[in-house]
Amino acid sequence: AATMAAVALVAAGPLVAPQVAGAAPGNPGAPRYSAGAASIGDPYFPDAGNGGYDVQHYDLDFSYDPATRFMDATATITAVATQDLDRFNLDFRGPEISSLTVNGHPHAFTRDGQELIVTPRPKLKTGQTFTVVVRYAGVPAVVTDPDGSIEGWVPTDDGAFVAGEPQGTPAWLPTNDHPTDKATFRFTAKVPEGLTAVGNGQLLSQRTSDGWTTFVWDSTEPMASYLATITIGNFVVTETTTAGGIPVYVAVDPRQVAGSASAVAQLPKMIDFFSSKFGPYPFASTGAIIDRAPNVGYALETQTKPVFSGAASVSTMAHELAHQWYGDSVSPERWSDIWLNEGFATYAQWMYTEYNGGASVTQTFNSSSNYGRAASSSFWQTVLADPGPVDMFSSIPYNRGAMTLHALRGKVGDDTFFRILREWAANNRHGHASTADFIALAEKESGQHLGAFFDVWLFQQGKPTTW
Ligand code: ARG
Ligand code: ZN
Repeated sequence: AATMAAVALVAAGPLVAPQVAGAAPGNPGAPRYSAGAASIGDPYFPDAGNGGYDVQHYDLDFSYDPATRFMDATATITAVATQDLDRFNLDFRGPEISSLTVNGHPHAFTRDGQELIVTPRPKLKTGQTFTVVVRYAGVPAVVTDPDGSIEGWVPTDDGAFVAGEPQGTPAWLPTNDHPTDKATFRFTAKVPEGLTAVGNGQLLSQRTSDGWTTFVWDSTEPMASYLATITIGNFVVTETTTAGGIPVYVAVDPRQVAGSASAVAQLPKMIDFFSSKFGPYPFASTGAIIDRAPNVGYALETQTKPVFSGAASVSTMAHELAHQWYGDSVSPERWSDIWLNEGFATYAQWMYTEYNGGASVTQTFNSSSNYGRAASSSFWQTVLADPGPVDMFSSIPYNRGAMTLHALRGKVGDDTFFRILREWAANNRHGHASTADFIALAEKESGQHLGAFFDVWLFQQGKPTTW
């Protein structure tokens, strides 16, 4: 289409095409404005993500008072149009919006469920960088998932537990909420003095005045929106570095210090162990946020600093840190690819257990929660490569996913297997990839046809017996 447009302009001579709105018959060089898609087309979450633009950066500047649960926020979103746009959507379930501008022009907008619908004027042309500023204030949302668990902005007794996999971040920040549109993030969070706001990335500054402390957190590597956090509470903060030189920032609720001591002590060693197996740690810093949110009941691999809703065990810490390579740096292309996150992190957990002197990976593979499950168990009846939104965080992607990797290791041998894991991290660093991409890489690195192998493990129901 670009070539045809260029030819048409040459044929028409040096006249500049008039900038008219809409498709212009007989004038193929003119912009063809249309609405960006209201969805990225991921069937697990049909409202998630949007088309027509690519976000570069999110900046959120806000205050939050746990006593009132009230947030007062300004979000500035910088994006590039990928088509000529007369309308685009963001995903937002947050509080009332008081104003919205595009490139400094105030705009009317509408909201429909999680869709925030913007009609920019002037309209936006392909390749144009634009800035959306959204001001909003009120109580951010708690989102309930298909499996019944809660996420988003979850108030705690001393702040808020903030986690967004798979669809919680629009509870408090307007986003293009899909792992295929990564961006850098900066959070400027003002909270009552004595509390700490802990975000992804590096702490740029921390200043207290008039009874409020403002924390500025900077994520310099691209991040999927579901991995964002700015968790607030009363925290004991410890800063160290790993033997490999990565800065570590750990924030622990005082009530979780004793129960998390062993996991926290081993964090630097885990980062170094995984670096030796998976390749260089993909981010500028690491750490953890160990909170108390009893109604949540899970941990999440929020980028650079996994967040825990209760005391962190050694194996959960290993799982969340392994996700920094598999999940955070290499994110799933579609949510049905979730085994690429959970199977890999679970396998890494098995590896760390073995490294730490516990059960061998082979023993764990054969245990009663894994391959030792009876063939009649309903566990085997879910297709790993498409578990569905209700089962995406069930034992299927975790345990069957890890078993698939161990079976692959047996098939291709240790050298090839670990080369596949390292190449997977290196080739897709700070990006996203699909199950088909993984199969292609495994075949390339092993030189084997693995279609039948992956068919049995990923695409068929039933307990694999031969592969
Ligand atoms: N990815 C997280 C983990 O395995 C689990 C997230 C669960 N989220 C949920 N909404 N159920 O560490
Ligand atoms: Zn996980």
